[in-house]
Amino acid sequence: MQETQINGESLDIVSENVSKLKDLFPEIVTEDKIDFDKLKEVLGKYTEEDNERYNFTWKGKSTASRLAQSPSTGTLRPCKEESKNWDTTENLYIEGDNLEVLKLLQKGYYEKIKMIYIDPPYNTGKNFVYADNYQDNLKNYLDMTNQFDEEGNRISNITESDGRRHTKWINMIYPRLSLARNLLAPNGVIFISIDDNEVENLRKICDEIFGEENRLDRGSIIWINKGSTKGFNKIVKNHEYILGYAKNSKLVESLYGVNNPEKMDFIQERLQIKRSPKNPPAKVKFPKGLKIEGHENIKFENVIGNGTNRIDIISGDLEFKNGVLINDVVLEASFPYKNQMIDFFSKIGTEEKTYDYKGQEWVEVYFTSTGVPYFKKLRKYKIISSILENVSNSGYNDLKKLDMENVFDNPKPVKLIKILIDYFTTKEDIILDFFLGSGTTIHSSLELSTKNKRIFIGIQYPENIYENDKNNEPSIKFLKNINKPLNISEICKERIRRAGDKVASEMNQNGQVSLDKNTKNNLDTGFKVFKLDSSNLSKWDPEYDNIEQTLLDSVKNIVPGRNQLDLIYEIMLKYGIDLTLPLEEYQIKDKTVFSIGFGALMVCLEDNMTSEMATEIIKLKDGLSPEVMRVVFKDNGFASDSDKTNIKETLKINGIDEFVTI
Ligand SMILES: C[S@@+](CC[C@H](N)C(=O)[O-])C[C@H]1O[C@@H](n2cnc3c(N)ncnc32)[C@H](O)[C@@H]1O
Repeated sequence: MQETQINGESLDIVSENVSKLKDLFPEIVTEDKIDFDKLKEVLGKYTEEDNERYNFTWKGKSTASRLAQSPSTGTLRPCKEESKNWDTTENLYIEGDNLEVLKLLQKGYYEKIKMIYIDPPYNTGKNFVYADNYQDNLKNYLDMTNQFDEEGNRISNITESDGRRHTKWINMIYPRLSLARNLLAPNGVIFISIDDNEVENLRKICDEIFGEENRLDRGSIIWINKGSTKGFNKIVKNHEYILGYAKNSKLVESLYGVNNPEKMDFIQERLQIKRSPKNPPAKVKFPKGLKIEGHENIKFENVIGNGTNRIDIISGDLEFKNGVLINDVVLEASFPYKNQMIDFFSKIGTEEKTYDYKGQEWVEVYFTSTGVPYFKKLRKYKIISSILENVSNSGYNDLKKLDMENVFDNPKPVKLIKILIDYFTTKEDIILDFFLGSGTTIHSSLELSTKNKRIFIGIQYPENIYENDKNNEPSIKFLKNINKPLNISEICKERIRRAGDKVASEMNQNGQVSLDKNTKNNLDTGFKVFKLDSSNLSKWDPEYDNIEQTLLDSVKNIVPGRNQLDLIYEIMLKYGIDLTLPLEEYQIKDKTVFSIGFGALMVCLEDNMTSEMATEIIKLKDGLSPEVMRVVFKDNGFASDSDKTNIKETLKINGIDEFVTI
């Protein structure tokens, strides 16, 4: 049996890409090296020979690209005490620099994210932009979390007067976006908020990374965020942008296309019949062929319903056979949108069977089975490219409702982000935000999850808040009931806790919890907190000043101070296993064995393991019966070499082929 050794590195993206090239063009790869002349031959007329070509470039581009591709030597350490509902939640909150974290998520979340929304620093010259270190970005993060250099200056800011401020910002965003693309599902989408400082650069970078053909509807969303502002000889700005890209725009088209039952379900709406002074009774001809739900064959009386819902059949029969109306029928009732309906029906039988009303496309009209006080309206939503959300204070108010006003500058409005999430995601989809700030994206997702549960992953740097930038004074903004200044990550966690509680209690008040057991069971307002740190495996974190100790430690292999749980999550991360999968603990004699994903991965990190352990693991395998089982031990955890060999052999004979050591 093959023995694999887990190392402390995340996915090697370059080698993954080489194997993809190898699959496409086996002839160009010899001994894992690419023969570029052969590749040119294979690509023939599609090779670019001209040095002068359309290209967006800047100083540092190739280094930034390499930075994205170099593996991370970090890990994510679980932090149960800051989490909410650790044992049951599927949501993740990760504290750390998003570049390193995105690298660590490459394996487990490759093509799994349905929607990314980010709101990076706009490069106004005042906001925080994390300075990557090309030599050792992880160490840099760990050193920098207090954000001061030796002279006490903030190292992480780009200032207005910085001659290279665009270059610095581009070098920051480029590797992050290229890593983010890998995580998007084939039908996934990304939205990025930005203002005029960097919109042109961001557009060009996104065209390069996601492909111009994948711009969502060829444009961006303009978010009109302030009411008119007085101004005489100057253009007064009241908007920002949200750039949208798909991983593959063709797949997104089909996902939201008319015939997609998944999306239909989400968008169906009933069109009520209601008499009111605004809505007097009117006659509408319903053409034969319309469908009815819930019945195959039925004939209705001449008068249906009563009071404000009354419908009179004026001519023809309201009769359905095999689920469709057998003849034209004229009904009199108080139809909202009467003219639109007439227009819609006039198109039935023609090629174009949709009706566009204020950007909402109707695609079908149904009768219901109950004697029809309602008609069902199916429509395909479209998002209009300018969102007028007059909300200078809306984001502020969202926080205020949670008793958290004045803790974060310019949070995005929940209402705005909900529009995007509601449209582009559905049940069980994963949403990622890696510039989380105060956590608006998660708050929005939680509010929507009473309808359809979404799963979130959020990443945020533990940035201190500065009350007074000039003096580099840490913030003294206190939250009610919390008697210490919080960094942004702590503020964000607190907001998600409060937002989740609010959503759950509102559901309770509305009685929904008891009415809808499913929703209650599915509502997940918890989150597992993980924090970026150096690997738990010591050989990946040598201490150069104390190499002797490092060597001694590396025999032990595990960094002092780290516990079994730290290691287990590192193994899951590097194996690409979902960090929220259930973890069960079994006690076998005096040793603990962890089962992840119902036996898909068994981990035992004890010392002095003897061959008996194999027999016990086989018993567990029989009980759990996973499709495949992998078993992980500590390399130096065996009582003797022969115990190791015996364990390996027994496992092999019993169908466990993957034996892993760390
Ligand atoms: C504009 S704010 C996001 C605001 C958010 N949309 C809201 O409504 O609260 C950007 C956030 O990204 C964070 N950030 C900047 N660089 C980061 C990095 N390298 N890793 C993680 N977070 C980062 C900053 O701390 C800041 O809070």
